[in-house]
Amino acid sequence: MQIQPCGPLRGELTVPGDKSISHRAVMLGALASGTTHITGFLMGEDCLSTIDCFRKMGVEIEITDKEVIVEGVGLHGLCAPEEELYTGNSGTTTRLLCGILAGQPFTATLNGDASIQKRPMGRVIKPLREMGASIEGKNDNYCPLTLYPSELYGIEYRLPVASAQLKSAILLAGLYAEGQTTVIEPAPSRDHTERMFRALGVEIDTEGNTITLDPPEDLRAVDIEVPGDISSAAFFLVAGAIVPGSELTIKNVGVNPTRTGILDVLRDMGADISISNFRDNAEPVCDLTVKYSALRGVEIGGSIIPRLIDELPVIAVAAAFAEGETIIRDAQELKVKESNRIAAMVNELTRAGVNVEETEDGMIIRGGKKPHGSSFETYKDHRIAMSLAVLALAAEGASRIDDPDVVAISYPGFFHTLEQLGG
Ligand code: S3P
Repeated sequence: MQIQPCGPLRGELTVPGDKSISHRAVMLGALASGTTHITGFLMGEDCLSTIDCFRKMGVEIEITDKEVIVEGVGLHGLCAPEEELYTGNSGTTTRLLCGILAGQPFTATLNGDASIQKRPMGRVIKPLREMGASIEGKNDNYCPLTLYPSELYGIEYRLPVASAQLKSAILLAGLYAEGQTTVIEPAPSRDHTERMFRALGVEIDTEGNTITLDPPEDLRAVDIEVPGDISSAAFFLVAGAIVPGSELTIKNVGVNPTRTGILDVLRDMGADISISNFRDNAEPVCDLTVKYSALRGVEIGGSIIPRLIDELPVIAVAAAFAEGETIIRDAQELKVKESNRIAAMVNELTRAGVNVEETEDGMIIRGGKKPHGSSFETYKDHRIAMSLAVLALAAEGASRIDDPDVVAISYPGFFHTLEQLGG
C-alpha cells in the first residue's frame, strides 16, 4: 500500500469498540446465567477468535448488525471442545482462557499463530499451577498449552509484571477456586475485568494495588456497551497532532484512567487535546478533540507505562516529530507483544531517517528533523502498521507499507477512515 503525505486531517470520527472490553464481554457473558447483549463490540480478528473458542465450548453466540448476543451457559456450563481452541494472534484470548480452562472439568488445548507461539505463557502457567491447575506447555512457557481437570485453591500472588492479562487469568481461575484469590500488582494495569465482574455481581475488592476476589455462586448476565478503543483513537490523536492544520474529534472513546496515559503524555508534549461530553457508566467515556500543535520531547517511564503500553509505538512516532529528546524507559514488556515493538519501531524510524537509539528497556528518540517516507515493514503487527501509516502522513515524500491487512486484528476499516478524513 502507498501512503502519500497529506494536508490537514479534519472532521469527526468514531473508532471501533475497545478490544479488551469486547473480549471480556464475550467471556463473562458466556459464563453468566442469562443472555448478554453487547453493543459496540469490536469485530476485529482477535475478538472473533474469542467468539470462536467459546462456540467450540458449546456457547451460542449470535452476531447481528447491531449487537453480539451471548447465551450464557453459567459458571459450570462449558462443554469440552472437540478440537484445539485456536486463539489466532490474540494474547488476551490465550491468557484469559487459560484462567477459565484451569477450572473446567475437561481437558482442552490452546494454540495460536506464529506470534502467539513465541509469546511467554510461563507467567500464567506458574500462578495457575500454584492454584492447583494441571497445565502442560511447550518448554513450560509456550503454546500449545494443554489444561487438564483439577481442583483449584485461592492464593495470594504478587505479579512480577504489571499485566492485565496475567491479573485477569488469575482472577478468572479464582472463580473456580476454593477460598479467596488475591493479586498484587506492581503498578495498576487496566481494570476492565474487575469492573465487569462487579457489574455481574461478583464480590471483588480493590485496595491500592491489591485485588481480592471471592468465588461467586454465579454471574448475573447484564447488557454491555463497549466504548470506542482509546488504543485505536491513539492513531488519530497523534495524526491530528503532527499533520499541520488538523483538527479531529473522536467520539465515544473509553477513558478508563488505567488507559489514559496517552492523553497525559501527548499533553505533556504540548498537544492540544480537549475532552467533552464526559459520562461515566461502568466505564467512563467522552469525546476527544485534537488540534495540530508543535510538540516537544518528554521522558516516559515508571507507573505510566502500563497505562499506555499499546500506544508506545505511535507515541514514538509523535516523538519523531517533536523538538528535542524523548526517552522511553521501563517498557521491556514491548518486546513480548505481537512483535518486538522496540526493535520494530527502532528499525522503521531509522529507515525514515529518525535519530533513534534502542535501549535495554525502551528507546531514545531525538526528534525535530522531519522524517522522510520509506518502504516500511509491519512485522505482521497491527499497531506497528498503523503507527507507520500515521508517520507516513506527515513525512517528506511517499511511503509504502507491506501487509496493511494486518490492521484487521484490532481496527478493520482503519485505512478507509483515514482516507475519509483527508489522509
Ligand atoms: C490487554 C492487556 C495488555 C495489552 C493488550 C490487551 C488486556 O497486555 O497490551 O493489548 O486486554 O488485558 P498485558 O496485560 O500483557 O500487558
